[in-house]
Amino acid sequence: MSSQNVTTIHIETGTPYDVVLGSGIFDDFGPAFTRVCPHAHTVAIVTDDMVARFYFTRMQKILKAQNLRCIHVIFPHGEAQKNIATWEHILRVFADNNLTRSDAVVALGGGVVGDMAGFAAASYMRGIDVVQVPTSLLADVDSSVGGKTAVDLPEGKNLVGAFWQPKLVWADVDCLDTLAHDFQIDGMGEVLKCGVLQGGRLFELAQKNRTEDRLELISACIRLKDHYVSEDEKESGARRFLNLGHTFGHAIETLSEFTITHGKCVAIGLILMARACEAKGIAVPGTTRRIHDAVENIGLPTKTTFGPDEIVEAARHDKKSSDTHITVVLIEDIGKCSLKTITFDELSELAHAALS
Ligand code: GLY
Repeated sequence: MSSQNVTTIHIETGTPYDVVLGSGIFDDFGPAFTRVCPHAHTVAIVTDDMVARFYFTRMQKILKAQNLRCIHVIFPHGEAQKNIATWEHILRVFADNNLTRSDAVVALGGGVVGDMAGFAAASYMRGIDVVQVPTSLLADVDSSVGGKTAVDLPEGKNLVGAFWQPKLVWADVDCLDTLAHDFQIDGMGEVLKCGVLQGGRLFELAQKNRTEDRLELISACIRLKDHYVSEDEKESGARRFLNLGHTFGHAIETLSEFTITHGKCVAIGLILMARACEAKGIAVPGTTRRIHDAVENIGLPTKTTFGPDEIVEAARHDKKSSDTHITVVLIEDIGKCSLKTITFDELSELAHAALS
């Protein structure tokens, strides 16, 4: 490989795979792809119009150099495209171009592309191989790893989907250089979540948010994700720790009709959960201040205009809740969180404590 600084993280799910993370590795993707998908003759590159401007032709050249036939789907960027109509369009391009069961999909882009392409791969002909090539910070640290794939319904985010692990994740952090500043910052919401879960150096580095630390930071987040996903692939136990900040955060995202992006909502969700836990005597005094300062330093929002009752009502419709209960991730300290299944009345008490 032509570059230095390459880290490989082995994800031990039912079908294990590697996350290869580095700087300047994009053009080395071809041989790695053929190693994990040796029977593919055709590759479907799925991406959005923003990412395509920078990376589509380059990716096509890389794959053609491996004697692969390339087909592609390029759809408009943005969460609004993550719907059944786009999913159907992707599947029909696959079918019209005679993509077979032994062929593969390359998901080239951020979280929306990864989810859409992953779900198209999971469902086409009952499942074909997918390789994730993340180009955003959010996709590097979270959505490209762990096999969650989905599309949204008007009734809610990610309501249709599948667990479908990729054959490989190939993450060149240099792709972040072409990412708009707002998306860089947005991805830091998930990074900070990892910092609060793990504490120590990961929290320190997350709050500093320095470019020179990004390889170390991203690799630490992926290792943390591996820890939870390898233990609990289908999210019936420990993987739920990764929902830290998401109970309130996801509710805010839904209430804003997705005009406030995911990472920003997670950052606000972290602060709200910390404040609620501190008010209830669960968190060490000062925890909220530390998280608030980190969020502020990164440049993410710290406040919401939504009230506690509407936040709880939105959380009630979250697919992670049952009729009467929801499992939340409580913050006891930086680096010490716990899972608790509570009633919606108890959630309401937490929301009021956070926003009073
Ligand atoms: N984004 C949380 C998870 O993959 O479980």
